[in-house]
Amino acid sequence: MQSIKYWGHYIDGKFEWSDKKNSFVSGPKHISPAAFDDVIFTLPKKFSAPVDFVFETGKKAYQSWARLSVNERVKKLSPLKKIIKSSWPELAQIISRETGKPLWESEGEVKALVGKTQFVLGEALDRIKEQTISKAQGRIRFKSRGLILVIGPFNFPMHLPFGQILPALTAGNTVIFKPSEKTPASGQKLAECFHKLKLPSGVFQMLQGGAEISEQLCRHNNGDGVLFTGSFETGQKIKENLIKDHSKILALEMGGYNSALIWDDKDYEQALEETLKGCFWTSGQRCSSTSQIILHKKISRRFIKDFVRRARELSVDHWSHNPFMGPVIDQSSVHRFMAFQKEVKKRGGALLLEGQKLSGKKGHYVSPGIYKMQFDKSSRFGTKETFTPQVIIYETSDLDSALDMINHSGYGLSLSVFAEDPTVRDEIFYRTRLGLINYNLSSVGASLFLPFGGLGKSGNDRPAGAFAIDLCVSPLAEKIKNGF
Ligand code: NAD
Ligand code: SIN
Repeated sequence: MQSIKYWGHYIDGKFEWSDKKNSFVSGPKHISPAAFDDVIFTLPKKFSAPVDFVFETGKKAYQSWARLSVNERVKKLSPLKKIIKSSWPELAQIISRETGKPLWESEGEVKALVGKTQFVLGEALDRIKEQTISKAQGRIRFKSRGLILVIGPFNFPMHLPFGQILPALTAGNTVIFKPSEKTPASGQKLAECFHKLKLPSGVFQMLQGGAEISEQLCRHNNGDGVLFTGSFETGQKIKENLIKDHSKILALEMGGYNSALIWDDKDYEQALEETLKGCFWTSGQRCSSTSQIILHKKISRRFIKDFVRRARELSVDHWSHNPFMGPVIDQSSVHRFMAFQKEVKKRGGALLLEGQKLSGKKGHYVSPGIYKMQFDKSSRFGTKETFTPQVIIYETSDLDSALDMINHSGYGLSLSVFAEDPTVRDEIFYRTRLGLINYNLSSVGASLFLPFGGLGKSGNDRPAGAFAIDLCVSPLAEKIKNGF
């Protein structure tokens, strides 16, 4: 496939290499995880970012952007829908090339951008509408925060950051977006969409780079907020770095170690289908992916037999063939996958379906792994997300044990439940701490119309999704003696 041009950072209304002033010196090649001969683009040899200037520009732009009415901002942002729709094939293709996700899945991600635009510029605005509180002779106004930094992950390189960038801008903030260093091309394409809006320069800016630049941006004393999506380990580091910084709102959307609880066979076929999706869609690289399946003993034999047979048949291939799943993102994910499987075996687990490295495919391809283990409450093994397509199965007939298994990891994102008995559902509600519970559905698949975020190691109680706009404003209580 043809390489695209690397444009560099997007600062003050311009891409770094959009004119001839800066000379581009070629550095490393950015290669697709789905095909080692697919060079997406050539990165520059030297990486630097004028961080202070970017903050100054964003802060300056804030002065006038914040003073526009919500309706004026909505008008300026509305063309996004058309822009995204008209670039649909190009956007989907770049997501697939860069992450290896099947094209059907990347098309779904682009579709979500369109849906999100409609939602944020429509229904979501009710959450920040001025309220008159007659009992207090006062009102509540929702004020933008200032300059917000949005840090993105690789697995949904457009949809997840977009779900924070757009609410932030709509609410009157200016934004610096830092895409994942694993998906700079998706970051660039998203920035191109915003560029086409012709917003006042500095309202939206994008800086490329990895951990070092990202850390500098988080710590910068001219910022007013950090909206982060990524791993628990990185989120924890950001939190530590900002512990004494009381001027910024910090929202952490972190990882998950999610369970599927299958307690009866009322919706047996659906449980099979949904659990396959939960474990293996996106090659297990969703924060909401299923990492463990907890089976009631009365159905476990039948379920395991069918689940393993169905998983063995799943297609793993290049994104353009629209398989069930593509490769994992990089070589270190392949290592993590193989190392985890080896450790399961060493600890006496059964490899019901041994995951294989598919080395003939010239990409980072692995096939699904399914293991069965005895649950050991005293062990921390199997409590950290591997972010690869593998799953551990536990059996039990005791609901207390099942709840222990669900809660053991310390993450608190998503749970898939197949249980008809309402008392089981009640126990789950009261004895777990989670952001999402999906009944008769897999653990993956976020709804545009619901909040999205987790507790514990999954987040800091600042859900995004339909609530993302709440993070972008601070409520101001105003009282006035003789009315407004
Ligand atoms: P990651 O934590 O490696 O990187 C995420 C972002 O953080 C990148 O842009 C990276 O450059 C930046 N970063 C790295 N070190 C930093 C530092 N010290 N300070 C500031 N920023 C830093 O995550 P990833 O591998 O890109 O994404 C996968 C992870 O994201 C998984 O753990 C997954 O569960 C999680 N995730 C969570 C959600 C959610 O909504 N809860 C959604 C998607 C992915
Ligand atoms: C994710 O954000 O990683 C997953 C979203 C989903 O549940 O589909």
